[in-house]
Amino acid sequence: MQLERTLWHPVALSHVVGSQPRAATLLGEELVLWRDGEGRARAWDDQCPHRGARLSLGRVQQGQLECAYHGWRFEGSGQCTHVPAVPDFEPGPRHCARTFAAQEAYGMVWVRLDEPEGDPLPIHELPLFPAEAEPRLRKTTSGPYFVQASAPRIIENFLDMAHFGYVHEGWLGSRDHTAIPPYEVTRTERGVLATGCLAWQPRSSIHAESGAQVEYTYEVTAPYMAVLTKVPEAGTTAIDGMREAIAMFVCPVTEETSVAWTRMAMTDFESPDARLIDFQDTIFGQDRPILESQRPKRLPLTPNAELPTVADRMSSAYRRYLKDSGITFGVIL
Ligand code: FES
Ligand code: CO
Repeated sequence: MQLERTLWHPVALSHVVGSQPRAATLLGEELVLWRDGEGRARAWDDQCPHRGARLSLGRVQQGQLECAYHGWRFEGSGQCTHVPAVPDFEPGPRHCARTFAAQEAYGMVWVRLDEPEGDPLPIHELPLFPAEAEPRLRKTTSGPYFVQASAPRIIENFLDMAHFGYVHEGWLGSRDHTAIPPYEVTRTERGVLATGCLAWQPRSSIHAESGAQVEYTYEVTAPYMAVLTKVPEAGTTAIDGMREAIAMFVCPVTEETSVAWTRMAMTDFESPDARLIDFQDTIFGQDRPILESQRPKRLPLTPNAELPTVADRMSSAYRRYLKDSGITFGVIL
């Protein structure tokens, strides 16, 4: 069984999954997302078991999903409850949509396509984002960003500081400060952690009025997810010892296309959502042409692939982690 299929992946913002079914793609699998009568988010194969029509063309009626073609109705468990052409017929267990496990966390719907076999590993649990539970941080999500790039290329870019002075010049970096001081990389139970990452930034947030040396940590918390933390800028609501966190959530759509979101947990309670989102949109918009230009599109995990330097220590550790974990989707082995 493919490892990726047994992991939880983000597929949509929670608030967009509502009374209208919608289509999404995860690991090449076409899904319909909808919300049942109890308000639970559901993720099924986007194919009606009757004659194969897309269930995402249907509608939600009284908490059940109704197929657009012949009006078969399905309850949240996937069981068909009604076949309008044969009103007296009682559908049995075979008359069931193909369902996947779904849950909601961090403002998103997460889906797992297959149950892990044997004892689940830490990697099989929902990826951690501890900042979410901190009430003194304000949470906002930006995205979706539909990107013509593999999920691991997007995560590797998120972990990369050496591009700040070029891709984000005047924002996250400057051509006058391009050297990356040494930082520490350690393996964790579920991923990789980089600490003591220093970057000189002209404008690292919407409040920054002058350049500053910013210290980051970067943590890969799942194969297609990473979190950065930093001490808040002067000028924002300063809270002792509090670190802001930004998570990069990536849905691997196909091997070479992805959808990404950023989940922000910030000390800034004043700025409207639109301003925080606008900042992330700008930064991601700067990364996008680079990401979509990278060849090969799948991240090479082969020995001696591409040319890492010591500044790329974290990205090298990320590649080794993907390889050791047994990831095959979006990579070249
Ligand atoms: Fe869905 Fe016939 S194909 S009801
Ligand atoms: Co960037």
